[in-house]
Amino acid sequence: MDDVASAKVRLPVARFRDASEASKRVAHEIARLIRQRASENRRCVLGLATGSTPIRVYRELVRMHREENLSFFNVVTFNLDEYFPIKPESPQSYHRFMNENLFNHVDIIRSNVHIPSGTVPLENAPGYCRDYEDLILKFGGIDLQLLGIGRTGHIGFNEPGSTRDTLTRMVRLDSLTRKDAAKDFGELDRVPLLAITMGVDTIMQSKRIRLLAFGEHKARIVQQALQNRMSSALPASYLRQHPDMQYLVDGAAASCLPPSIFGTSLQ
Ligand code: GLP
Repeated sequence: MDDVASAKVRLPVARFRDASEASKRVAHEIARLIRQRASENRRCVLGLATGSTPIRVYRELVRMHREENLSFFNVVTFNLDEYFPIKPESPQSYHRFMNENLFNHVDIIRSNVHIPSGTVPLENAPGYCRDYEDLILKFGGIDLQLLGIGRTGHIGFNEPGSTRDTLTRMVRLDSLTRKDAAKDFGELDRVPLLAITMGVDTIMQSKRIRLLAFGEHKARIVQQALQNRMSSALPASYLRQHPDMQYLVDGAAASCLPPSIFGTSLQ
């Protein structure tokens, strides 16, 4: 991590040497939280993300489970989103992604895992989404929400147009998001048009938020999310209102940010 970001001040943006270092930092923070809660006989509620960005975080958590006795016995998870419609066993489904990258390799209690359904009947989706919100509240809210950022400025699948007060709901995917997903689905026409996602407000209610962004292709959107006017045109911009939010970026994703941002308030 660079000099400014390693200072004791709580900064909303921390720049790391590489994605690996940033991912380890977040994984270790998650592990500390899980262990602290376990020592108090309490559960730890994690909000989890998919995409290529958080993979290293999951890898480090799995390593700590195997080598350092990190148990997920007290962990409850809520994933941000899922394509719709999609079968859980489909190679592109977020159910499959989470199983392959994390859940199959740790001792989490399966009934503590929650991922929005890609198969709920369309007419039942509104009630299903309300239940998802209620369940998060029933577990006392999300302690730490892990996020990536899409090139449209989306968090979860809250595309441009998603207002600050949105909750879990069915959404239409932006054409750029579908284009970015086409590599996973083989061709654009196979990418679902819809998704179920937690809303901006659902995410903002989390006690801590950690957003990871790596690579040059994220540089522009990271800069806009941090410096443009806060608005539904750029849903990630709302995160600046959160009292315990941190961006963890590598040098490439930080490349459009002015050096001064590492020491200033972003409001
Ligand atoms: C998808 C997910 C987002 C994720 C984004 C970025 O749209 N729904 O939660 O942040 O992809 O993906 P990647 O990390 O692969 O760049």
